[in-house]
Amino acid sequence: MTTFYILTLFPEMVLDGLHTSIIGRAVKNEHLRIEAVNIRDFTTNKHGKVDDYPYGGGAGMVMQAQPIYDAYQSIVARIEKRPRTIYLTPKGETFSQTKARKLAQEENIVFLCGHYEGVDERVLEEIVTDYVSIGDYVLTGGELPAMVMIDAISRMVPGVLSNQESGETETFHNYLLEYPQYSRPEEWMGRKVPEVLLSGHHKNIEKWRLEQSIRLTKENRPDLYEKYKEQEGD
Ligand code: ADE
Repeated sequence: MTTFYILTLFPEMVLDGLHTSIIGRAVKNEHLRIEAVNIRDFTTNKHGKVDDYPYGGGAGMVMQAQPIYDAYQSIVARIEKRPRTIYLTPKGETFSQTKARKLAQEENIVFLCGHYEGVDERVLEEIVTDYVSIGDYVLTGGELPAMVMIDAISRMVPGVLSNQESGETETFHNYLLEYPQYSRPEEWMGRKVPEVLLSGHHKNIEKWRLEQSIRLTKENRPDLYEKYKEQEGD
């Protein structure tokens, strides 16, 4: 079973978010385990302080090494090995479907969620195996990126998606975005479902969907479209 450990100052934020919908069902069905470890529980000072001023000056506070390291060690002591440990940071390598698929093969993954202006570099050097960003924008903390990664990785863990869910043609599968979908009624607010989808002609439906995927990818993601063309050998 895949276990995700989240080192965070806001355990309720990640647990609430991840115990709903498909990921919540997977936890209930024991395909996944999700555990939040509260860094504040590992402070050694009586005020529960986890941060301090940066050496050299500058704005903001820096999360100190000791409570993070001790929280991490509490996990290592239980699993008896050093797990893959991901630090969420805009300075990291960009996350992707390919990375999600690879990480789904790990048994244990630790996510370190930073806050304030950063984390003392020395604890990162000591415990982190991967620096990962979820995109070119800056968030206030690592919790949302950790949740995004856990959601994407979990979908790739066997048993998490039902056959029907995983049978869906997947966006990014072969560098194309997914075609548009329609359900009942046939006409809504004067808009009709494309005729071909009502035809029952499977070859034509497939052709239409591929055309739509290509059109969407060209329009919205020219970078992906180039990869698609390369793969197709054009
Ligand atoms: N922490 C703050 N912003 C982030 C981002 N874009 N990706 C990962 N971690 C972050």
